Amino acid sequence: MTTLPAIADGTHLFDDAERWSLDELRARQLERLRTTLQRAYDNVPHYRKAFDDKGFHPQDLSSLEDLRHAPMTEKTDLRDNYPFGLFAVPRDQVVRLHASSGTTGKPTVVGYTREDIDTWASLVARSLRCAGVRPGDVVHVAYGYGLFTGGLGAHYGAERLGCTVVPMSGGQTAKQIQLIHDFEARAIMVTPSYFLSMLDEMQAHGVDPAPSPLQIGVFGAEPWTPAMREEIERRGAMHATDIYGLSELMGPGVAQEAVETKDGLHIWEDHFYPEIIDPITGDPVPDGEVGELVFTSLTKQAMPIVRYRTRDLTRLLPGTARPAMRRMEKVTGRTDDLMIVRGVNVFPTQIEELVLALPGLTPYFQCVLTRPDRMDALTVRVEAEPALSADERTALAARLAEQIKTRIGTSATVEILGEGGIERSVGKARRIVDER
Ligand code: DLL
Repeated sequence: MTTLPAIADGTHLFDDAERWSLDELRARQLERLRTTLQRAYDNVPHYRKAFDDKGFHPQDLSSLEDLRHAPMTEKTDLRDNYPFGLFAVPRDQVVRLHASSGTTGKPTVVGYTREDIDTWASLVARSLRCAGVRPGDVVHVAYGYGLFTGGLGAHYGAERLGCTVVPMSGGQTAKQIQLIHDFEARAIMVTPSYFLSMLDEMQAHGVDPAPSPLQIGVFGAEPWTPAMREEIERRGAMHATDIYGLSELMGPGVAQEAVETKDGLHIWEDHFYPEIIDPITGDPVPDGEVGELVFTSLTKQAMPIVRYRTRDLTRLLPGTARPAMRRMEKVTGRTDDLMIVRGVNVFPTQIEELVLALPGLTPYFQCVLTRPDRMDALTVRVEAEPALSADERTALAARLAEQIKTRIGTSATVEILGEGGIERSVGKARRIVDER
């Protein structure tokens, strides 16, 4: 067992809202929800029409439960209102724009007022504190800077907490490692998949990552499994915590896992109201049941968002380290990433669990989907450790295929590749290659 660094100062609260009682939180949520729905209705033609079409109006909201009658918002609504159609304030009050790349079509654009930027910085600061980061720490930010919300979101939050920020962005892996070492970064903010490349790079240069100054990782922007956490914590001798967010809602800092419990991510419910719905029917399901995560912003000014369908699958659990703030379980995957292989539902995270459990395989893998005879077929391409013999590789391929069959319930072809066979990403990993 690796010994992880002791995180001395217990509860890590950043602000008062983290101490609110459940009653206080629910009362504030209701008040903020009313204001948000009304602001959306009054200022955004799209929402006015959506509410009118549903025959439900912001004044009809008398309890949090009533939110289920409000219209939902989807990514296509952002595209249809490109670029600024969902803004609820005049454009000259918007001090920042971000946008998602969007693999097809127009990007989705989001805007922030000065107050929104301020809220965002506070929530990332709160998240960092919850991860065990302290004022005065050196924080190395390797999320991409630019239109992606990761880099700048992390940056402003770390500054707000009172840290020394290294705005490295993604890429230049050798340099990243040198600066982490030279500047003695205690915390790093980066996608978990890119951090694995950093660990490999250290080892390739004969540097043992364990004694590096890093004690805390704040990893997110893509799904990652408990098995991945173990791998990172063991190799890096550091705490690996999960941060969640999405640009449509704000960016990183919507939810964060506490370093002392690592039992799912506390949703910052004073700013974002979560629901879980059945992705097929759209009906809300009770806490504890898995479904699609839906969020309504409670304080956003420039771009309030009502019942946004995130496509992320998870469930809501009661608060622990922050008793009033519910937790979301680690995201299993996005509905978009669901692969249906011979009638069986498969997520890349399920493959990740199995790959990481087999000694000899590395965490670099991709799921390739083809349709050879009108049926979807899955090929898992995974890199093996360089030292393995041809026979060992063949045996590993058979072993993984068998595990996929018995644990997930579907057949898959496994291809074992040599070092570098899977493209490395410096941001979000590409887990699915769709060749259908
Ligand atoms: O990825 C914001 C972010 C940056 C979060 C840095 C955390 C750290 P988008 O590019 O809009 O924003 O992508 C949002 O990424 O709906 C999830 O599918 C996925 N995602 C984000 N965080 C996590 C996480 C940023 N911790 C989409 N676990 C979301 C699993 C995550 N998936």
